[in-house]
Amino acid sequence: MTFLPAGNASISEGTSVSSDPIDLAALPHDFLWGTATAAYQIEGAVTEDGRAPSIWDTFSHTPGKIDNDDNGDVACDHYHRWREDIGLMRRLGTNAYRLSIAWPRVLPAGDGEVNPKGLAFYDELIDGLLEAGITPTATLYHWDLPQALQDRGGWPERDTAEHFAAYAAVVAERLGDRVKHWATLNEPSCSAWIGHLEGKMAPGWTDLTAAVRTSYHLLLGHGLAVQAIRAACPDARIGIVNNLSTVYAATDRPEDEAAARRHDGHVNRWWLDPVHGRGFPADMREVYGVELPEHPGDLKTIAAPLDWLGLNYYFPAYVEDDPNGPAPYVRSVRRPDVPRTGMDWEIDASGIETLLLRLTDEYGARKLYVTENGSAYPDVVRPDGTIDDPERQAYLIEHLAAVASAARKGAPLAGYFAWSLLDNFEWAYGYDKRFGLVHVDYDTQARTIKGSGHRYADIIRTHRNRASRAA
Ligand code: FCB
Repeated sequence: MTFLPAGNASISEGTSVSSDPIDLAALPHDFLWGTATAAYQIEGAVTEDGRAPSIWDTFSHTPGKIDNDDNGDVACDHYHRWREDIGLMRRLGTNAYRLSIAWPRVLPAGDGEVNPKGLAFYDELIDGLLEAGITPTATLYHWDLPQALQDRGGWPERDTAEHFAAYAAVVAERLGDRVKHWATLNEPSCSAWIGHLEGKMAPGWTDLTAAVRTSYHLLLGHGLAVQAIRAACPDARIGIVNNLSTVYAATDRPEDEAAARRHDGHVNRWWLDPVHGRGFPADMREVYGVELPEHPGDLKTIAAPLDWLGLNYYFPAYVEDDPNGPAPYVRSVRRPDVPRTGMDWEIDASGIETLLLRLTDEYGARKLYVTENGSAYPDVVRPDGTIDDPERQAYLIEHLAAVASAARKGAPLAGYFAWSLLDNFEWAYGYDKRFGLVHVDYDTQARTIKGSGHRYADIIRTHRNRASRAA
């Protein structure tokens, strides 16, 4: 294992993309410049030190669910190579890192006995980050529900929310003396809608009632976990991470306008309104037509005050009415002749600005982090071993420019986490889709900083120099 040299030095690769459009002066001096990852996507070591399977182990080992039948068994082997990965963060000059804690490492059965080795892994990792001057932001749930809890009914059951809060308490009690930034859930809409309605993510269900119950219990679990973290770590700064989309009607037909409103409800309002004390949107309750498993007091729990909101942004949505489709009766429309990433996701940097301003104006956000943003492209390793990725660099710069513009217009931006530090296991797409600022050769586990990583380092250094001149 190599421990890469420390330091903020970076070498710009020859590229024609300019960073100039980013209004760095609009970003606060103590801005967090980070990268983000998730446990199942990078750790590997799935059977080591007492870890038990999660729903993603089960799903990825079910033939036909993942491109190439890939799985997270080894992934980036971060479980063993985390020291080297912290070295990479230092070389990028980042001062923050968003990681997720694997519930099935900490509580292999989901509840009950704590696995000391699971906690010890994160304990050491956190110490390593802090020694490197990198602020950890820990996400408690990035989709890896212990399979044992799935076997007892999973998120459609209320107990799962309670087990989640108990797990949050265990982790916060152990790490809360050093970890101050906490996120409860990552993208609960994916867990509920993609996992339980569309069936394309674990656990792979296509059941509207289960999906709606899941959404409810995820948000309940979030609220209960906020209480648990605050009890364990009174100076914690807690948020939730949502992936939101700008939503447009594909035509001006009234039925498509109505479809856009429903899609906005499905991917945005359903997740934001309850957390902000507004309850579950009435129009969407009607669209789903599923009784919520409400108990008195739940809405208050779900609306526990937060310190920040996290936005994951990737692409806009253009939709049309689909009366015969599954709820919410909306179909995405693929617009011709617009730029797209290697995921076939439309590129529209203005969306990130629109959403940051919406969170500020409509939801009164007091602090915002872009908790994920990035792009996948099929990278080419040149004969000299370097990887230039002008498209990913352009994506990064355009989106950072839009983030800075939102800050200039009053959005309380406190940090940006690039997705992702490393190429990794991209869920149902397996290893073919590469989002990393750092390339991973999966045969050798060699890491190589891509042009975009060098570019990110330059931007961070420029902002930091400007901030220290101004101080
Ligand atoms: C987000 C996920 C993250 C990663 C990116 C590309 O939806 O949170 O784990 O897969 O998409």
